[in-house]
Amino acid sequence: MALLDLMNVRNFKMALRNVAKRGLATTLRYALSDLVFDLKYQVDTINTVMLDELDIASPNKAHGRYYEGTNVFIFKEVFSQIEVDAPNSCFVDFGSGKGKALFLAAEMGFRKAIGVEFSRELTDICRRNLEIFKRKSGTKTEFEIIHMDAAAYPIPPEANVLYFSNPFDEVLIARVIENIIRSFEEAPRDILVLHLHPQGNTAFVAHPRFQLEREMAYGYVLRLKRHE
Ligand SMILES: C[S@@+](CC[C@H](N)C(=O)[O-])C[C@H]1O[C@@H](n2cnc3c(N)ncnc32)[C@H](O)[C@@H]1O
Repeated sequence: MALLDLMNVRNFKMALRNVAKRGLATTLRYALSDLVFDLKYQVDTINTVMLDELDIASPNKAHGRYYEGTNVFIFKEVFSQIEVDAPNSCFVDFGSGKGKALFLAAEMGFRKAIGVEFSRELTDICRRNLEIFKRKSGTKTEFEIIHMDAAAYPIPPEANVLYFSNPFDEVLIARVIENIIRSFEEAPRDILVLHLHPQGNTAFVAHPRFQLEREMAYGYVLRLKRHE
């Protein structure tokens, strides 16, 4: 990724919005962590992409949020506050975009990382990024990149850390919740859900089957209750 690629009007506007929201020091810390990540692995995850710019066949496009990669600093901060047995866990990113959260999960040593993304273009970028990331990092994590609508994704029995970085609205989260419960009924296990940047979306926190384990500035950590 050339530094020049980052110098565009959209990034400038987003930076200004972030400075207004979080202050200059935090904005710089966040931006630097993302920049260092892309430069370190020679991947392309920083630039945001609006859904209107993408050719998405799914009727759920209107429920989706645009692509913005998980911030490295925030991801590490969140996982530093929760206990996860990464080498024995399978991480699933719902709306995986260019793969940023999957690569961060691999850095943490997850056994497997699955990404589900409904944009063909973003899935292709993610697969290209993944090949580079594997070479540069020497990761042992097993990956699966799936091009499909996350609301229709049948959650496999191995999946136990479910990651949502503001991918879509309450309507679709409600459908994914049904899939999570179905997957649990078929294969009972501990299931941890991270719902970051919920922006008022209370689908998980308000649902009776989920227990709020931790509320952070960046979102919620919840656990699926074993029994009603
Ligand atoms: C805010 S980005 C998060 C990207 C990625 N999870 C990360 O943390 O780096 C939201 C992503 O969700 C995808 N998305 C939105 N609705 C979706 C759906 N119904 N099924 C699959 N992907 C979806 C968008 O295309 C976008 O890539």
